[in-house]
Amino acid sequence: MKVFGKDILYFDSVTSTFDKLSEFPPADGLVVVADRQTGGIGRNGRVWISDDGGVYFSFYIVPKGNSEEIPFLGIVCALAAYKTIAEYIPCSIKWPNDIVSDGKKVCGILNKSGFCGDSSVYVMSGIGINANNTQFGELDYRANSIKNIIGKEVDREELLKRFFHEFENAYFNMSTDDIMEQYKLSCVTLGSRVAVHYNTDGTVFEGECVDICKDGSIDVKTDSGIVNVNSGEVSVRGIYGYI
Ligand code: BTN
Repeated sequence: MKVFGKDILYFDSVTSTFDKLSEFPPADGLVVVADRQTGGIGRNGRVWISDDGGVYFSFYIVPKGNSEEIPFLGIVCALAAYKTIAEYIPCSIKWPNDIVSDGKKVCGILNKSGFCGDSSVYVMSGIGINANNTQFGELDYRANSIKNIIGKEVDREELLKRFFHEFENAYFNMSTDDIMEQYKLSCVTLGSRVAVHYNTDGTVFEGECVDICKDGSIDVKTDSGIVNVNSGEVSVRGIYGYI
């Protein structure tokens, strides 16, 4: 590992790996991993169940370029997580950056950004992989783990190593076009009918996801034309059940 995953700080229990990582100044590639989180944070204000057995980590990315590339980093993280998990189980990306297997979520990603002292931007990427954890309580119908699917434990250290190998390969070696192409090929949302729920006012509309853009948004074809949808504003459900 050149930068990402070279320096890893391990903890037994933290509130959230985001909280722990923010105790350290932004340093490109610094990773915090925990065996469990007592206050794991999910997207849209949800809780991320973080029992023993999962792989929970946050790491800093300090982009050299301009802040426009920040939303694209979510795509890079999703592609790296997809390639990592695909080594173990059949899976796909569900836009924007969930990894799902057989309709159930096995990995979630939440990226947050902030400013360094010199006003350059940093990203904290937070990734939760359901590796050897097996119980999801009331979310059992839509969450699963690699162990549940393959029937044996996975080496969590190896999983983490593979993630950073894939992340570095995409981040340092692949062109934006190649990343987009591979993301699209792995994304179950593209070409599917989706229901878009605006979190702000509860509006819902349906259509077909016809494109995924570099800024992390999607184009949804509706009866009244193409609507561009940004992940910050909406949640998307597959019409025939959650994927
Ligand atoms: C989602 O809702 O899909 C995003 C889940 C992100 C969970 C990870 S676990 C490691 C990091 N720390 C957190 O508190 N959340 C992220």
